[in-house]
Amino acid sequence: MTISPSIQYNFSLRHHNTFGVDAHAYAYAEVTSVEVLSRIRSDATLSVLPRLVLGGGSNIVLTQDFPGLVMHMGMKGIAIVAENDEFTFVRAAAGENWHAFVLWTLDHALGGLENLSLIPGSVGAAPIQNIGAYGVEAKDYIHALRAYDFDSGDIITLDSADCRFGYRDSIFKHDLQGRIIVLEVTFALPKKWQANVDYADVVRNLDECGVTAPSARDISEAVIAIRTAKLPDPCVIGNAGSFFKNPIVSAQQRNALRDSFPGLVSYLQSESEYKLAAGWLIDQCGWKGRTLGAAGVYEKQALVLVNLGAATGSDIVHLANAIQQDVRSRFGVQLEPEPVYI
Ligand code: EPU
Repeated sequence: MTISPSIQYNFSLRHHNTFGVDAHAYAYAEVTSVEVLSRIRSDATLSVLPRLVLGGGSNIVLTQDFPGLVMHMGMKGIAIVAENDEFTFVRAAAGENWHAFVLWTLDHALGGLENLSLIPGSVGAAPIQNIGAYGVEAKDYIHALRAYDFDSGDIITLDSADCRFGYRDSIFKHDLQGRIIVLEVTFALPKKWQANVDYADVVRNLDECGVTAPSARDISEAVIAIRTAKLPDPCVIGNAGSFFKNPIVSAQQRNALRDSFPGLVSYLQSESEYKLAAGWLIDQCGWKGRTLGAAGVYEKQALVLVNLGAATGSDIVHLANAIQQDVRSRFGVQLEPEPVYI
């Protein structure tokens, strides 16, 4: 069977990035199978183009037109593939919507991913970024994944340790950057499920709803309610979730900062390090609700940058730079963006 990838040229990416920036790709392909990838790799013209893999487009800022081939992951499918005494193993294709996948697991009475409800993006992007929320990270449940290696043309399997997960970080942002495309991810969901309700916002929401012994579904609903109240819906207001990572600083730097700013919000990260709440730092600099050109800081959450209508990627980067500059001068802390600038 010959599967020629159908390529579209000068393709608008407006509906393929959650910021809703109207940049164009020189070439665009919908990836519906591994065969499409093999064909791209063996095509003399396509194989030499710069490559960009897009899932839900929730973690990028398109600062200009992309002069290469954008590959949109369209592979679908979710299935329970194995089980043992401890775990049920569920495999999901990279092109599945993350939140729809979380709901699928809950519909099948499989707990574990509920704290990660409503995170925008696709299953394939979850390990790249090691998405996380409310005390849980994707790495806690990722068992293994399969990916297509553009260097060799092989399909490789990585287990969780191979992925070298960190806070919003993985091997895919380092050694394997630009080389692989995730095809499917297998999650190990525990049979002895335990609620993870350490987060104050989640506890408060469950209390308000009168829930004392929450099920995974209850937690999912609480998280959905919290996120909906705090974070803008990208279908309505373009955004990429938290725009900055929470910076990790030494205990010494955190203590010195707390002496000068007693309200500083920080969380113990390791024996000698603290994570600072970037939203608090940005808010203190007066950025919440402020705009710069067509980009702005969301009025309910200073960590989220929004497209007010016709923002370009440059408008967003310009705003991000101004915020970084202010936080650096006031607190001596360097904020690092979560999304990748293209
Ligand atoms: N804060 C302010 N002003 C603001 C925003 C926050 O003072 O405008 C303070 C809050 O009062 C709170 C602290 O900063 O004390 C932390 O704020 P919040 O819990 O809202 O956000 P976060 O902990 O910094 C992280 C993740 C989110 C994730 C939530 C819940 C990062 C960069 N962000 O936010 O992830 O949903 O925890 O677990 O790690 C994402 O990565 O896109 C994302 C949304």
